Parts: sequence; structure tokens; C-alpha cells
Amino acid sequence: GIVPLELTVGQPLADTPEWHDASSLRKDDHVRLALRQHEHEGANAFDDLRFIHHALHGVSVSQVDTSVRVCGGQWMQPFYINAMTGGSARTGEINRALAHVAGETGVAMASGSQHAALRDPALTPTFTVIREQTTGFVFANIGPTVSPDQAVEAVRMLHADALQIHINLAQEIIMPEGDRDFSTWPDRIRAIAQAVDVPVVVKEVGFGMSRATVRELAALGITTVDVSGRGGTDFGVIENARRSQGDFSALGQWGQSTALCLLESLQGPDPVGIDVLASGGVRNPLDVVKALALGARAVGVSGHFLGVLDREGERGLAAEIGRWAAEIRSIMALLGARTVGELGDTDLFVDGLTARHADLLGVD
Ligand code: FNR
Repeated sequence: GIVPLELTVGQPLADTPEWHDASSLRKDDHVRLALRQHEHEGANAFDDLRFIHHALHGVSVSQVDTSVRVCGGQWMQPFYINAMTGGSARTGEINRALAHVAGETGVAMASGSQHAALRDPALTPTFTVIREQTTGFVFANIGPTVSPDQAVEAVRMLHADALQIHINLAQEIIMPEGDRDFSTWPDRIRAIAQAVDVPVVVKEVGFGMSRATVRELAALGITTVDVSGRGGTDFGVIENARRSQGDFSALGQWGQSTALCLLESLQGPDPVGIDVLASGGVRNPLDVVKALALGARAVGVSGHFLGVLDREGERGLAAEIGRWAAEIRSIMALLGARTVGELGDTDLFVDGLTARHADLLGVD
């Protein structure tokens, strides 16, 4: 089990200078603007999902096994700290704190994009601090624009157990300095997956993945995706706030919710045949269980945990993760599910806009 710990607040990384280049400032902006979004977490599409209560099923809390297999690893908890940051002094500190909590609570963790360190080795300590703090499961993180050799280097940098490749097309489009050529992404994703010797997850960053996208990734040889949908951190809002010349407000509500992504890819007439992780807008343990019930292998959490770390420090985040672990176990018992797999047998209503959209996508 997970025990909340007395953790100290991290000291600044020794010998890490303050960088003032554009990339480091961007990383600090992302954290600041994401924190603003998570001060108040409102309703989202997870609220359109409701479990049907069955009052008699005979499963005890002590019988519940919350473990999951993800990318060849056995995790005690079905949720993890998803990709966020690194690449500046402040975000190196955040990585240190997140990784310390991940190590102490036994949850998996993903690094933020390592592009900054691949370009400038002086920034490497803001990422390697993750491996100094945890011996647990760690994902490296890159985008499809790096070379296969750089992807191998990103994995080696963190002694990572798996690699996330983020696809953030909508974010790039909204960023004035963003990429504009996406024609090579499919081939690059295939080449990276072939070059690295660890499992690969292709993930979105909060705009979601359609079943067609998941299918295309499967055809490229990808065996795990993280649909990372709408409902939580919104990089449209973040990048619009960073634009100096007017916002790209036409893209204000772009993308699909995490709940809708899971329904389309896993609950429709022709479910995708690869492992699907869920993230985007996960606010509490019930959201985790709902995503697992829709067939997600595990559930990633970014913005919510960042907000808790910011407000309550490492101790507060460790306590929050301990509470989630205990409550997931309780909710599984309430639902009569001894294992995460058995959550697939629960009964879930789909209501509201999510039901209408699922209907339009041909999900029964
Ligand atoms: C992110 N996210 C992200 N994803 C990624 O693959 N590489 C990255 O470098 C980052 N950077 C990043 C910074 C910050 C501050 C946040 C909050 C998030 C996206 C993240 O992994 C996730 O896909 C989305 O944030 C949606 O999940 P939440 O935040 O709603 O739980």
C-alpha cells in the first residue's frame, strides 16, 4: 500500500544556471499557465459517465488487486504521473519533486519533452534528476521531429523503461513558432519505434485521438497509445495566452474528450486491437475507475497533480496519491471488480453531450 510521507521540499539544483533562452521561458510559461487552469477544475465529459450501482456482489476491499501491466512493466497502481516538464531551472525542480513522490509512492512517471536537453546538454540535469529520485517505471518523452538516434539518446538519458512520442499537431498550429510540416510524422514515428529497444507509447497532449488515428498508429507498428483528450489541461488556451499578436480563437474548443476517445476506440462495434492508455482531464479516483472501465490499461494525470504539488508541496502530493490508491481500491470493491480487467464487466451509463457524440460516431 501507499503511505503518505514526510517529504522535504527540494533544494534548487546545484550548478544549474538560470537559462533565459526562449525554450526555457516556454517551459516556465507552460507550467504557469497550466497551473492557472487547474486552480478550479470544472465539469468535464467524465461527468457524463455514471456507474449503475449493484447492491450485492460479494467482493471485499481486501480482495481487490489494482495492479496493471503496461509496456512490459507490472504497476501496483493503475494511474501514473504523465508527461509535463524539464528544460529550465524551475522545471528541473518540479521534475525532482514529482520523481521523488513517484519513487516514494510507487507510481510510474513520464518526463516532459527532452528536446531541450537533446539540443543543449547543459539542460540534461533538469531531466536526469528524475532517475536520481526514482527507481520505478519511467517514460522518456520526445516528439516525432527528433531523429531515431536522438530518440535512443532520450531513452538512455533517463535509463527509461519506455518511450512516449507526443503528437501535438493542434498545439503546433496555434503556436506562432510551431511546426508547419507534418508530412513526415508517420514515417518518423515508425522509424523511432524501430530504433529504440524499449516499448513505445504514442500520446496526444490533450486534444484526443480518434479511432482512425489509433488505427493509423497501429498500422505503423505502434502497440500502445495514450489518447490524452479534452477536459483538463488545454494547450489551445495555453498557446493562445502566449501569443503576442491576437489569439487563434477559432481553435478554442478543438478536439475530443477523453471519455469520447475511449468510447470510440474501445466500445464501438470494431474496437482497436492495441493497448490504450487514458489521460486528459482526470481529476479524481472515480475518473480513473471510469477510464479503466471503458477499457484503458492505465490512466495518466498531469495538470491535477501539478496543481496539488504547487499548492501543497511534495507531502501534499504524496498524500493525494495515497488517497487515490486507497479510494480506487474501495470503488473497485463497490463495483464488484476484483481486478482492473473485471471493471470491464461493470455497467456504465453514458449521458449528455458525450452520449450524443458517441451516437454520431456509431458507438452503441
Ligand atoms: C504537458 N503535457 C506534455 N505532454 C508531452 O507529451 N510532453 C510534454 O513535454 C508535455 N508538457 C506538458 C507541460 C505541462 C505543464 C502540462 C500540464 C502538460 C501534456 C500532458 O502529458 C497531458 O497529455 C495533458 O496535459 C492532458 O492531461 P491533464 O493535464 O488534463 O491531466
